[in-house]
Amino acid sequence: MSEVRKEVTQFRELLEQALEVSCEFLRGLERRPAACIDAPPLPLESLPRHGMGTAGALKEFQRRVMPYLSGSAGPRYWGFVTGGSSPAALVGDWLAAATDQNPATFGDSIAPVVEVQVLNWLRQLFSLPPSFDGCLTSGATSANLLGILCGRQFAGRVQGMDIAAEGVSGASIQVFSACPHASSLKGLAMAGLGRNNLTAVACEPGTERMDTVDLARALCASDSPGKIVLASAGTVTGTDFDDLTAIASLCRKYNAWLHVDGAFGLFSRLLEDRRHWTEGIEAADSITCDAHKWLNVPYDSGIFLTRHTDLLEQVLAVPSPYLPAGNGQPHFMNRGVENSRRFRALALWFNLRAYGREGVAQIVKDNCLQAAQLSKWLASAQGYDLLVPCKLNVVVFRPRNCPDIRAWLDRLNRSGEVFMTPGQWDGRDAIRAAFSNWSTTNAHVQRVIRLLENKGD
Ligand SMILES: Cc1ncc(COP(=O)(O)O)c(C=O)c1O
Repeated sequence: MSEVRKEVTQFRELLEQALEVSCEFLRGLERRPAACIDAPPLPLESLPRHGMGTAGALKEFQRRVMPYLSGSAGPRYWGFVTGGSSPAALVGDWLAAATDQNPATFGDSIAPVVEVQVLNWLRQLFSLPPSFDGCLTSGATSANLLGILCGRQFAGRVQGMDIAAEGVSGASIQVFSACPHASSLKGLAMAGLGRNNLTAVACEPGTERMDTVDLARALCASDSPGKIVLASAGTVTGTDFDDLTAIASLCRKYNAWLHVDGAFGLFSRLLEDRRHWTEGIEAADSITCDAHKWLNVPYDSGIFLTRHTDLLEQVLAVPSPYLPAGNGQPHFMNRGVENSRRFRALALWFNLRAYGREGVAQIVKDNCLQAAQLSKWLASAQGYDLLVPCKLNVVVFRPRNCPDIRAWLDRLNRSGEVFMTPGQWDGRDAIRAAFSNWSTTNAHVQRVIRLLENKGD
């Protein structure tokens, strides 16, 4: 009998053991160091000829891996823009693994229907018109790639070319952006457009917000028939929002594709007083958002929406004899990078079913208040400079008179009390604290403030 089949009768026992270990980890998040900076290397062992069984592997995991994991799912990990996993999302994700569906095509299960429903709910969550459709992705990076690929296909169409069929050679495509996330540069590299081939648009002084006068000048000066504009709804350091109404109008005038990266900034649409920041987004051609950030579903989970699924499917279509007729429903393998794909929608489905619009909005509101709490303290603290007024969930600061910000941050992170990541502001190193975890409370912010009080120069 195969090693695996021997375990068939122990399934329940093994899952119960895994549940225990999971609960131990989750309960410990409150106390666990926010990050494990120096994880030891695993010994270079050769592949075992015979395995130790799942129970043995679980023990090994507890001994060799679990102690060195980060607390990134917990309340004091404020690096990058990092969400945790809500209880409902975790249950959904567990069941996605247990049921192991492949929602690539219609015709053998309800799993793709769940994704269709989740996309519909996301449209409603973000108050976007029904003309937007798309797919779930592995994150904002792949959603940005899809936006760039659709823009590339559009730019080809303008020139009478089908780039997905013929290739990019011979096409003339110019890409414009002011402050793109690094993942969009990666997208340009992957799309064959070149990460250095970006026309830099100026930012408004002292911000990361696109100067639309400069964009108008650059679009007007362009003699390229194919144009793509990459706009931001929430830049990663300044949390600046481009003027999407003005940019969309310029894109219409110059026949340019407009892609908006709202990986976390799109959630500002859930806040009454900040919804106007993304006015005009309805006219975007494509939009990126991340679910593993502020929606608090486990990695890896992103969202891509476009008003042009015809173009998306031209690029991503899988010419395959085993695709059944869709009966009007999308085959998701024709929309995303992957053919076979995880039942990613289930974690979102649970999350949105369990907490609804108000539940998601409450997390966003709470995190914004926590960011405001930290930034208020920093603004009046002796030893620190608050570099950017806090607008949403990101706080940008520096310890005053500190010759080496990165070394200072490294020492802070090694305390295990909090984890933050570096950024750049005014051309100099800065520190970012980003709040997007459902379990963070004001008491956690107070705890970190006490730590900072003792560390300021
Ligand atoms: C604005 C923005 N775009 C894209 C990304 C990339 O997201 P991911 O790591 O999910 O691919 C991030 C990540 O922080 C982001 O903040």
